[in-house]
Amino acid sequence: MNKIIEFLKIRRSTTAKSMSEGLVEENDLIDIINCGIRVPDHGALNPWKIVIIRGEKREQLGLKILKKEFKKNKVNATEDEINYEKNRFLRASVIIAVISSPVYHPKIPKWEMYLSAGALCQNIIIAAQSLNYAAQWVTEWYSYNEKMLIALGGNPPNDKIAGFIYIGKKVKEPVERRRPLLNKIAKFN
Ligand SMILES: Cc1cc2nc3c(=O)[nH]c(=O)nc-3n(C[C@H](O)[C@H](O)[C@H](O)COP(=O)(O)O)c2cc1C
Repeated sequence: MNKIIEFLKIRRSTTAKSMSEGLVEENDLIDIINCGIRVPDHGALNPWKIVIIRGEKREQLGLKILKKEFKKNKVNATEDEINYEKNRFLRASVIIAVISSPVYHPKIPKWEMYLSAGALCQNIIIAAQSLNYAAQWVTEWYSYNEKMLIALGGNPPNDKIAGFIYIGKKVKEPVERRRPLLNKIAKFN
């Protein structure tokens, strides 16, 4: 039995709102990130940046960016809503922010560099889930917020946030979600 295929066939994300903070072992985190950067990357351009958000940084970013930016965008927000937004990064013990940072290349289109950032995110969730962590790739509203991008070291408008990968602990096994039918998606000629 090929264990990787068996795992990929049943792999599931656990939503950030249903995971608990948990603890990500340091050696696991290094393995997860190493799997992330071992990704198809045309021309070996490394067109991405990775920022690990953990410990107090989660609260700091919550206060400095999530709270402020949410209030700015929703002037009539309630205290409950503001607190919810401020605490988003506290849903997991580690959040890996992946920034797509395309570079100029005479032959390789930026589109391929964007795709590579997505593949990096996917490698990270596969690695984290294979180690039995709860993991989810989200963008939510703050991926599209310029202040957040700058706070993470990104340079707008070139750089874009590909996603935040939340890694925490499963509270219960996630149930399967609706999946596409192979024959509806793939054309066998
Ligand atoms: C680029 C991208 C952004 C996403 N953003 C969100 C999001 O903001 N909120 C959300 O609930 N799910 C989001 N999702 C979907 C979650 O990752 C979801 O858990 C996933 O579709 C479950 O699939 P899986 O069980 O096959 O991993 C996003 C997915 C992708 C690829």
